[in-house]
Amino acid sequence: MHEMMTRMSPGATTMIRMDHTHAMATFHKYRANATPEKKQAIAETLCLALEIHARLEEEIFYPAMRSFEPDLVNKSVPEHNEMRRLIAQLRQTRPEDASFDTTLLELMRDVMRHVADEETMLLPDAERVLGERRLSELGAEMTRRRFELAGPHAGEMAVNTVRTFPGATLAFSGLLVLGAFLIGRAATRDTAALPAMRNALRKAARPARIRSTSRSLVNRLRDAVAA
Ligand SMILES: [Fe+2]
Ligand SMILES: [Fe+2]
Repeated sequence: MHEMMTRMSPGATTMIRMDHTHAMATFHKYRANATPEKKQAIAETLCLALEIHARLEEEIFYPAMRSFEPDLVNKSVPEHNEMRRLIAQLRQTRPEDASFDTTLLELMRDVMRHVADEETMLLPDAERVLGERRLSELGAEMTRRRFELAGPHAGEMAVNTVRTFPGATLAFSGLLVLGAFLIGRAATRDTAALPAMRNALRKAARPARIRSTSRSLVNRLRDAVAA
């Protein structure tokens, strides 16, 4: 498992951009006039993905950048905390309430600003000062940690991801979620699923494929969820 994660991990900055793309794509799926179930599934997909993303940055990526960019890193942590406050507020609100929409929009505005700062300053700086080898080590570390953090939520995340992206447009983190779910199943009974999933993850990890689709994986997941 360790070797597989190292091989399929993109570099840290690529992975962070993939997460941002996934968050933005999820926000774009939100409609104020959608059913409460759909709104709830989208919000929960977002909340969990953002929580995991923030933990990965705070535990692994920010410490690696702190000595180079102390100001940028130090301003990012309170921004994550504000995001957590909005996530907690969202979880206490029913999707039928109007404040669900306003809180989600507030979260979206905060995340977009934060993402813009990271993508225009912190990530290019990291690529300049850390170098490819270090970025790749950090990426592998982040992937291992992502599986630990996502593991307990894999089933729920997988179901919410399918409800959020019924058209099968998945970014890398969506695939990782599906991957964690399928690995869990494969470990218990379906080892035949592993090679196909490993290939799909490796392909999706190529930067050019960040927004790639994987209809076959989603179909596989639908079957797995229905089983
Ligand atoms: Fe961040
Ligand atoms: Fe980020």
